[in-house]
Amino acid sequence: MQTNVWENLPPNFTILAPMEGVTGIIFRQVIAKAGRPDLFFTEFTNVSSFASEKGRNNALERLEITPSDAPIIAQIWGKNPEHFRILASELEGLGFAGLDINMGCPDRHVNAAGGGAAMIRTPELALDCLKQAKQATTLPVSVKTRLGYTYLDEFREWLPTILHEHPAALTVHLRTRKEMSKVPAHYELIPEITKIRAQISPTTQLIINGDIKNLQDIQNLSAKNPDVDGWMIGRGIFENPYCFTNHQVSHTDLLKLFQLHLDLFDKTSEKAQAKYGHTLSFEPLKHYFKIYINNYDGAKELRARLMECHSTEEVRRLIG
Ligand SMILES: Cc1cc2nc3c(=O)[nH]c(=O)nc-3n(C[C@H](O)[C@H](O)[C@H](O)COP(=O)(O)O)c2cc1C
Repeated sequence: MQTNVWENLPPNFTILAPMEGVTGIIFRQVIAKAGRPDLFFTEFTNVSSFASEKGRNNALERLEITPSDAPIIAQIWGKNPEHFRILASELEGLGFAGLDINMGCPDRHVNAAGGGAAMIRTPELALDCLKQAKQATTLPVSVKTRLGYTYLDEFREWLPTILHEHPAALTVHLRTRKEMSKVPAHYELIPEITKIRAQISPTTQLIINGDIKNLQDIQNLSAKNPDVDGWMIGRGIFENPYCFTNHQVSHTDLLKLFQLHLDLFDKTSEKAQAKYGHTLSFEPLKHYFKIYINNYDGAKELRARLMECHSTEEVRRLIG
């Protein structure tokens, strides 16, 4: 049995937020090269998909990891407690250091399926899924959630509900589901949240998420909130893929990372062809171009031409 990953992290540890369509196997390797956080999370995988014959291969492909990912947490979502049990029981064998249950995703389809932030409205079901996952594995089980579904003050009931089940860690994205990402994160609530954690489950690691862009932000927030254990950066990675370091990023650094991204894309696509019978779609790769080609004279024009490309070879020719 491996040691509990949450107990071996440094003070003010850092995490790259799980982001669907972004933090897959390729981008995580790019970030590992730029400067990794203390912990990675996968994009979320649906438990019922994994438990079905038809969806299992797709779920397994989403859960592929490489040595540079370690330690990494598998994030999962759904609403069927039995399916949580099935997926949880296999994650250790797949190389994960823990599993995290998504109880915060605001996506309409996810919520209509009863998962993500919809769990805030079905606390008994949420607890059942959490318990089933915990019973099925020796891996630490954590939860990522929002302050509430509709109203801000829901957190005073919702966070204690989860904390009474003593998850290994609790990540709080400091907004409600209704607020989506349209308002600033509610940092003013951190002291009350740390107090709730200390009263109900002092062993649970508390991670704060929302609008944190870089190590400087973490330093500022942690100086004011010394009881928070860890900090999670999501969209900040788009502004600076070196955000987990103090590195002064140059145009050349970003170009090298872009080339690495393209190479990893080709390699991963070849592997997917051999193992799963399909290559990777090129179009989603375009979401990343702005990270690498940005903030200099001519960047916008080059990006416009890159958006017209249909292959990594065409992109390579343009970026030189
Ligand atoms: C494109 C995108 C995809 C996301 N996918 C997930 C996900 O799969 N699981 C999850 O828990 N949160 C997901 N999130 C939410 C982020 O993990 C994070 O909570 C949110 O972006 C707030 O943090 P930030 O202000 O640092 O970006 C996603 C966010 C974005 C922008």
